[in-house]
Amino acid sequence: MSSTCTKNTNSNFFFYRRQKANSKMTEDVIRTKSLGLSAEGVRDQYADGKAAKVWEIFIGDKKSRTENYKNFLVGMLREKGCKKILDVACGTGVDSIMLLEEGFEVTSVDASDKMLKYALKERWSRRREPAFDKWVIEEANWLTLYDDIGHMVGGGFDAVICLGNSFAHMMDNFGDQREQKQALSNFEKCVKPGGLLLIDHRNYDHIVYSGQTPSKCIYYNSSHKTDIKTSVLYEAGKPAMVMMDYFINIAQPMGGAMNGNSNINEFRLSYYPHMLEVFKRMLKEAFNTKQDYKIFGDFKHLNEIDIPNFYIHVVEKK
Ligand SMILES: C[S@@+](CC[C@H](N)C(=O)[O-])C[C@H]1O[C@@H](n2cnc3c(N)ncnc32)[C@H](O)[C@@H]1O
Repeated sequence: MSSTCTKNTNSNFFFYRRQKANSKMTEDVIRTKSLGLSAEGVRDQYADGKAAKVWEIFIGDKKSRTENYKNFLVGMLREKGCKKILDVACGTGVDSIMLLEEGFEVTSVDASDKMLKYALKERWSRRREPAFDKWVIEEANWLTLYDDIGHMVGGGFDAVICLGNSFAHMMDNFGDQREQKQALSNFEKCVKPGGLLLIDHRNYDHIVYSGQTPSKCIYYNSSHKTDIKTSVLYEAGKPAMVMMDYFINIAQPMGGAMNGNSNINEFRLSYYPHMLEVFKRMLKEAFNTKQDYKIFGDFKHLNEIDIPNFYIHVVEKK
């Protein structure tokens, strides 16, 4: 398959031409659907509120993070004696809430007020629980994270988490990944010496190769059927963006099966396709280390899994 893409920055759309083997040339105009800016000026893909609303449905009940996910995250943090956690992509609060319920002290930030609204709502409704009363939620973006919340960092957090394929939302606007490096460096500054950064991304090596995204997410237990239509955009011959159109059937499931009244909710999110080897180098640079660190594929060691959906990097700050 060959693809070309030109970006018209004035009108904010992409012309995308793709030719699949054995098929005719196709041409699409792909428009971004949400043009909002977060308070600090980073483009907020969740600004139209549409994805935020449906995200809650996509991830399912907040209590139903898959057991594997919960065991992995909570187990890893406990094993390392982490108590004070900074969730830098808290979104609607799904990880933060799970960690609060498990007895961790959590500070949560996100650039999208539309996403934070759900986290703040939960904090308010559970404010009589001491852990929720102490839950700190702030709007901040990764590019200015240390400036935004430096006063709360002190000696550093025991662990910083950036999960749910969040980091890939940050695009490479200059072609040299400088903003992604700046964001990682800000994460590093928030980790105490001996503390951890846990950061994940989908397996973009495989998505770019196959042109497909698995619709069942290993993190969530949603009972609603989701399809993800994937488009890979190339710039100068290199994959520069992956767009995922989510189609979620929000008709109420009945007895485990859909009730037949199809009610499809649709939203689009765009991601930078992080290739594993490049991401590893960038992370080592941010943590000023040449040493290898732990990488998991779908919560397993990499030698135990063939093609993972997600890579989870666990870096310790020296
Ligand atoms: C896919 S959601 C995941 C949220 C949550 N971790 C989960 O798993 O449900 C990604 C989140 O990253 C946030 N985000 C994207 N770019 C950001 C940036 N530059 N600074 C802060 N947050 C950002 C978005 O606003 C969004 O809430």
